[in-house]
Amino acid sequence: MKSMDALVSLCKRRGFLFQSSEIYGGVQGLWDYGPLGVELKRNLKDAWWQDMISGHNELATPAGAPSPFEMVGLDCTILMHPQVWKCSGHYDLFHDYMVDCRESKKRYRHDQVRGRFVEYKDQKIFVTTLAEIEQEIDEIRRRSLKFFKLRPKNADDITIGDESITLDKVDSHDDVLGPDAKTLGTLTEPREFNLMFKTTLGALGGEDDTTFLRPETAQGIFVNFKNVLDSSRVRVPFGIGQVGKSFRNEITPRNFTFRSREFEQMEIEFFCHPDQSQDWYRYWRDRRMAWYTEMGLSGESLIMREHEQSELAHYSVGTADIEYAFPFLPEGEYGELEGIAHRGDFDLRSHMEGKLDPATNPMTVQLGEDGKPKYRGSGKDLTYRDDISNEKFTPHVIEPSAGADRAALAFLCEAYTEDEAPDEKGNLQTRTVMKLHPRLAPIKAAVFPLVKKDGMPEIAQEIYAGLKQHFNVFYDAKGAVGRRYRRQDEAGTPYCITVDGDSLTDKTVTIRDRDSLEQTRIKIDDVVDVIRSRILQ
Ligand code: GAP
Repeated sequence: MKSMDALVSLCKRRGFLFQSSEIYGGVQGLWDYGPLGVELKRNLKDAWWQDMISGHNELATPAGAPSPFEMVGLDCTILMHPQVWKCSGHYDLFHDYMVDCRESKKRYRHDQVRGRFVEYKDQKIFVTTLAEIEQEIDEIRRRSLKFFKLRPKNADDITIGDESITLDKVDSHDDVLGPDAKTLGTLTEPREFNLMFKTTLGALGGEDDTTFLRPETAQGIFVNFKNVLDSSRVRVPFGIGQVGKSFRNEITPRNFTFRSREFEQMEIEFFCHPDQSQDWYRYWRDRRMAWYTEMGLSGESLIMREHEQSELAHYSVGTADIEYAFPFLPEGEYGELEGIAHRGDFDLRSHMEGKLDPATNPMTVQLGEDGKPKYRGSGKDLTYRDDISNEKFTPHVIEPSAGADRAALAFLCEAYTEDEAPDEKGNLQTRTVMKLHPRLAPIKAAVFPLVKKDGMPEIAQEIYAGLKQHFNVFYDAKGAVGRRYRRQDEAGTPYCITVDGDSLTDKTVTIRDRDSLEQTRIKIDDVVDVIRSRILQ
């Protein structure tokens, strides 16, 4: 089991991630990427863009796809017309349920608080099995706030559901609630909480100027569907990709960057004929799963999970999540990296009609109190006419929606390794190494002169300058070479190039592989090509 604490501390120490506004005590759910982190995240987004959008060959049929297809990109604004969020459903439906602990005044997403309400002396108390809030219980206890703990020898009765249990008959409270049960105190009933950040457009700042920071990049794509069709002459099936910031006022941001309030998404909206939508859904599910594996997430830590009907988002007629076994989760639990949703024609129709047809798509129903559609759509025709078959239809949408920060976190978790490597004297020492895929690694190669004399720095600097034109590389001439290797191992640098005495005469250098520790000699003239071929292999 990898230690999350060790990873978090490495991320801070080596400049992958810092808490936002840290000198003022930080802000929950907001994170800054440091010099190494920004390179990692940029590489990740570039790899996604290259593999999904710019590098996609529309002339060939990829394995598993029903036909060839085109992919184009967009970069839309974060602030949009407020009507977008009404027609998308976010204004009415994008909420979590929260509960407040009456004693500690802390707030929880209700799905984080697993347990049950029990009646205790005419009071409703909440009994939870959630280890994470044990800390909370300690605080309640420390501050002598009202706190209930079920004790085996307590003679009082409690009621669970309609069952009354006399506690002195219970050998241990395990009998009632399971082995880890603790009482948190009294909680309010769950209440809805909209996750969108409100802001105002323009100087007046009145209610009419209210809009929201986008909670997903997807809507920018839907409202530009017609613009893309008209300007790029793409034909259905085709996809539009976008990478950008999204914002959600999460009730309890936590687990490092996993649930943040400001984060980046990498989303594709893939438009296809309704009759082919299931085939495309399967294609995107499998293709996105394969992408994570190719980028280095190992088989047993990565799963694909089809949603139960009850879990589906308001727009979705089918969703599969790609999930990763993050080390902060209990053994056997996985956290969502990406959702692949079959959104049907929900979005295009909502932005077109703003009205709903319970018979064909009950999830879109949002009628006002008068029974009429609550929000008007744009009234613009967002249907598609196939120029060959002449068929007119509203395309169905398959949406692979990934989080750049969650993916970066998963790659960091996967990469974190403690192993043993020989030091300069050949003694095995524990080393910490970030085994990031070379495409993702923040620094692709480090260049070292073995010593700071005899012309070695000059050669090393020349190699460094040559590499720098192509890759992010690092020059280090300070300290013992073994220590320099260790620093690069921690940064995830896949290759270290060392200029030594022989380099002066035979024009070769050593290249050391971070993972295998293998050292080989290559010609100085070949360094750029060797690094390039190893990164892309
Ligand atoms: N357009 C569909 C959509 O936004 P989602 O499942 O809500 O779907 C997609 O979000 C992805 O965005 C998630 O799989 C996750 O990777 C990322 N994401 C969502 N909320 C996040 C948060 N609070 N912090 C970090 N990443 C988040």
